[in-house]
Amino acid sequence: MKTYDIALIGGDGTGPEVAAEAVKVSEAAEKKFGIKINWHKYDFGGERYLKTGEVLPDSAVGELRKFKAIFLGAVGHPQVKPGILEKGILLRLRFELEQYINLRPVKLYRAQDCPLKDKGPEHVDFVVVRENNEGLYAGAGGNLFKGTPNEVAVQESINTRRGVDRCLKYAFELAKRQRGGKPWKGLKSEDTGAGKNAQLTLCGKTNVLTYAFDLWWRGFQEMAPAYPTVKTDYAHVDAICMWFVKNPEWFDVIVTDNMFGDIITDLAAMIQGGLGVAAGGNINPEGTSMFEPMGGSAPKYTGQNVINPIAAINAAALMLDSLGETKAAAAIESSVVKIINTKIQSLAAGKMGYGTREVGDLIAAAI
Ligand code: IPM
Ligand code: MN
Repeated sequence: MKTYDIALIGGDGTGPEVAAEAVKVSEAAEKKFGIKINWHKYDFGGERYLKTGEVLPDSAVGELRKFKAIFLGAVGHPQVKPGILEKGILLRLRFELEQYINLRPVKLYRAQDCPLKDKGPEHVDFVVVRENNEGLYAGAGGNLFKGTPNEVAVQESINTRRGVDRCLKYAFELAKRQRGGKPWKGLKSEDTGAGKNAQLTLCGKTNVLTYAFDLWWRGFQEMAPAYPTVKTDYAHVDAICMWFVKNPEWFDVIVTDNMFGDIITDLAAMIQGGLGVAAGGNINPEGTSMFEPMGGSAPKYTGQNVINPIAAINAAALMLDSLGETKAAAAIESSVVKIINTKIQSLAAGKMGYGTREVGDLIAAAI
């Protein structure tokens, strides 16, 4: 039997509740497909910080690095100043474990969960590849004359050739293989005639960010010839926001920098049914990746058995997929689709028609 050691950080607020349902569903899939995950629990989060004053012990990164993957529930605690846990846990792990890709699949399972008029699952089905180690998140900048009327604040976007190229390469590779060789349905006949079977859209702001996106643009153009089956496309980030609302069916795979990726994936989450279903993977293709539901810790719903665990369950599927357990991942996804379509009233917290644990039970039983 194939076994995996996975670190489990429930984290704050509803994080542990949704993580428990992800573990439950994963265990059902593990049984069916003859694999075994050994979950190793860590108590990192707001409560621990308030008790000990320590966000992550010095040994944490080194210890977590030994696992195949990490599953994270949520970070963010109402009694802890914003930024401390986000930077001290989430961003620190993303950076130090070199999880340079943030992979966010955007897939609508049922038309009624989409706020867009006349759009259904056939229109909302794309993937965002967000650069996850650089850009405005790198922490470069500083201030002068703080607290005076002459205060200056500078926050710089760091884009390295290596960082941009490795992200583009991941996105091209994903576009090339993602639909199992079947052409993406948004292609025109002239594209398929020219041998294309996928589309990769670079999302940037080449008209204003003429240093950063000049680098991205050149990297994109230079890499494209190595992927003759991938049609390349470009859109400014503001236009992408418009099209996510008007024509989400225009997108297959999107690649973008850290900040734009953060923003557009919240918008994307809304058209796929909300944060109750949106999942992401912080990927280091050569190392330890970390999977998480995209929603935060939702303090007001904590401990009430009302939060939607599907995003966490989808994150578990993404994790199994990245471990190479593609059958188990696909089985989880199809039971999610089945339960949404047959049982769940709404994807919003408190309106599902079932509690958090019951949704987990239903999905686990449908595996
Ligand atoms: C996300 C979140 C994080 C980010 C925050 C919590 C630091 O919004 O995963 O998208 O900005 O990356
Ligand atoms: Mn975000």
